[in-house]
Amino acid sequence: MNKVIETIMSRRSVRFYDTKPIPKEILQTIIDAGNAAPSGMNTQGWRFVVVQGKAFKDKLLSLAMPRYKKWMEKAPQSLSDMRKEIDAAANDPVYYNAPVIIFVIGSGMTSDFDTPMVCQNMMLAARSLDIGSCWVYFGQLPLDDMEVRKELEIQPDEKVYGPILLGYPKGEFPKSPKKKEPKIKWI
Ligand SMILES: Cc1cc2nc3c(=O)[nH]c(=O)nc-3n(C[C@H](O)[C@H](O)[C@H](O)COP(=O)(O)O)c2cc1C
Repeated sequence: MNKVIETIMSRRSVRFYDTKPIPKEILQTIIDAGNAAPSGMNTQGWRFVVVQGKAFKDKLLSLAMPRYKKWMEKAPQSLSDMRKEIDAAANDPVYYNAPVIIFVIGSGMTSDFDTPMVCQNMMLAARSLDIGSCWVYFGQLPLDDMEVRKELEIQPDEKVYGPILLGYPKGEFPKSPKKKEPKIKWI
């Protein structure tokens, strides 16, 4: 297998992070990889907010936790069963104490197509550098808070993707979960 395929096949969502910080130039490389994504008419309508400061991370988590609990109360049984193990293992079931949280913020006609590719590029680049990542939808729960929106400078025409967590995995890099066989029609 070539290195790109190997990276794609071995990427997986990491939910246990080491506290070891990621050097800034490595974060820059991961962001540059995101920035290299294709976009409709090459509009590149995205930007990145990198959160590493403890105060803002604490604020995000304190806002996310009650919202997460409320969300889980209404969640279908299958999802809450799936999350039980995660919730029991992590004191932070939203951001998993990741050293870096990156909000990827998109705007423009094609951003729903473009910006997830930015995120995927970042997660693959991270994997190639032995850095773990996870797209955490629940990480968006505090986005109804005006102070959070102000800090992220979210404009009315913008939409947030991710956020993407980054950090060195605690222990071994986890193995990829089994994927379903692809459904293919060959013509
Ligand atoms: C749009 C999206 C939202 C996700 N949100 C969460 C989340 O809030 N919390 C979480 O732990 N994982 C989240 N994930 C990660 C998925 O659970 C994970 O990709 C899936 O279980 C497959 O595992 P793998 O990434 O290791 O292949 C999300 C993934 C995507 C693409």
